[in-house]
Formats: sequence, C-alpha cells, structure tokens
Amino acid sequence: MKSIFLLIISLLLASCSQFQYNETLAQDLAGFSLASYCNPKYLQQWNCGSACKKNPNGLTDFSYLYNKTLKASGYIGYSAHHDAIIVVFRGTVPWLIQNWIADLNTIKIQYPFCENCYVHKGFYKQFNQLKSQLIQSFTEIRQKYPSSKIFVTGHSLGAAMSFHSMPIIFELNGNKPIDAFYNYGSPRVGNEAYATWFNLQNFALQYGRINNAADPVPHLPPILFPFQFYHTNHEIFYTSFIEDGNKYEQCLDAEHKLCANSKIIAASVRDHLSYFGWNWATSILTCQ
Ligand SMILES: *[C@@H]1O[C@H](CO)[C@@H](O)[C@H](O)[C@H]1NC(C)=O
Ligand SMILES: *[C@@H]1O[C@H](CO)[C@@H](O)[C@H](O)[C@H]1NC(C)=O
Repeated sequence: MKSIFLLIISLLLASCSQFQYNETLAQDLAGFSLASYCNPKYLQQWNCGSACKKNPNGLTDFSYLYNKTLKASGYIGYSAHHDAIIVVFRGTVPWLIQNWIADLNTIKIQYPFCENCYVHKGFYKQFNQLKSQLIQSFTEIRQKYPSSKIFVTGHSLGAAMSFHSMPIIFELNGNKPIDAFYNYGSPRVGNEAYATWFNLQNFALQYGRINNAADPVPHLPPILFPFQFYHTNHEIFYTSFIEDGNKYEQCLDAEHKLCANSKIIAASVRDHLSYFGWNWATSILTCQ
C-alpha cells in the first residue's frame, strides 16, 4: 500500500517537473552563443577557431547586428544542418564580465507589452539598440527560408536580450511559436508580472534557461525586496558537465529550490564561462 502511494507521488512529481528539453540542440545553440563573442570578420567566414568548431557546419546568409552606442551585438544566419534560421545575441566580453557583474544595477522601466510589468532598464536598452536591425535582417532571411525552423539563443547579457527579442520574432513569424529558445546564464529580466506574462505566451515550442552550478548571474538582479526581479519558467540546472554524462535538474517552475536557487553561494565567474564544459574565455580570446 505504502509503496503504491509512493509510486503515485513520484509519478505526479515526475509529470509536473518535466518539459521537453533537447540537450543536443541546447549544446549546439550554446556553440552559436559562444561564437557571438568572436570578431565578426572571422565569424562571417565561420572560421573562428574552437568557438566555430562547436558547429562545424556553420551558417549561410549571415548578417551581423551591431550598434556602436552601447556596443550591442548579435547575428543571424541560416543553418542548413538544422534547417533553421538562428538568431544569436552577444553578452559582455569575458575580460569585462567581472566588472559587469559587480556593477549590475537594479533599475527597472515599464514594459510596454503587459500591464504592471517592469523590466531591467539596461537589458531592455541594450536589446532596443538592435531592434531595427533585427527586424530588417530577420524579415529578409525569413523571405528566403519561409518554412525553416527558427532558433533563438544568447548567453549572459545576450540571454536577457534574447528574451526581449521573443515578442518581436513571434510577430514577424505571423504570431506562430518559434521552434526553440535556449539561453545560458541569464540574469533575471523583469518583475514577477513580466515573468508571469512571458510564461503565458506561446513564444516557443521548446524553451529553457540553462544554468551552470555556481554561476552568479542567474541570481541577479535579486529576487529580494525591494528589487523583486523574478525568473521565467523552465530552468535546466547543471551541477556538472562531464564526458560520460552531464548532470542536471529540470525545474518546470521559475525560482525552484532544486535548481540554481539551491546554491546558497554562487560566485563563480568560471562557472558563468564554462557552459557544456568549454572554456569560453580561452575560445573567445583566440577569435578576436
Ligand atoms: C534534438 O536536437 C537535435 C539537433 O537539432 C536533433 O537532431 C534531434 O532530432 C532532436 N531530438 C529530438 C528528440 O527532438
Ligand atoms: C542604435 O540604437 C538606437 C537606440 O535604440 C537607434 O535609434 C539607432 O537607430 C540604432 N542604430 C542602428 C545603426 O541600428
């Protein structure tokens, strides 16, 4: 009797803590996020050393997005290997990341897409720098590949920017969900009303925020009063990346105690720069 009861409980837990997660795809998109830190002259040729080798097939129809005011950057291209348009946002370069983390402010502004929603002002501003280029490049490439898949990705600040691209890309896609949205080491983007709104949209068929061990960035800006930032649903929390099987927890709900919030102390910049066990800082240094 007791064991049947336990079985039912564990089945219930299993059914409510899972969502579709494709680790192979997440790893490929991490490779595209890593490459975004490379110099565009190498990126354009898909010849950026170890960063580009994570996706040896590369991209065609490449557009580089860049706005010099805040050095916002990203790229769009078509991957024949995935039959997908891939949209990537770049974060802060590794040699500035420690300062970026230390200086991260908590200023919010009103978010136009939903009521009582506030988002981090700096992240939103950074995204808006690229918005018009994103719309133009995406519209062009979509005309060329009208039925391909669409993937969106980004790491760190680039992850926050990728959140802001979702309503835009969704609309440009005829209000149809894109195929996959995975990002890495994302900070919190907005308040709880924003996160709730985001969770209710049908922006992507599969999506997740992927976090690594003691990466500090997913803990910022703080959830605590008076800051009150809040994550969106679907977290994949890696406790280690190892050759014979990565270890992760899947948390359906945001701010779950079994995922990144299980870390009381999260201050490892190294973990922020070692998704999928790669040394992002070294790869990026060799493609400048
Ligand atoms: C996961 O993603 C990879 C790479 O895009 C793809 O080849 C594979 O079919 C996907 N697996 C599932 C179960 O969808
Ligand atoms: C840079 O960003 C600003 C602010 O969003 C925008 O007005 C401007 O058009 C952008 N420049 C380019 C080249 O996209």
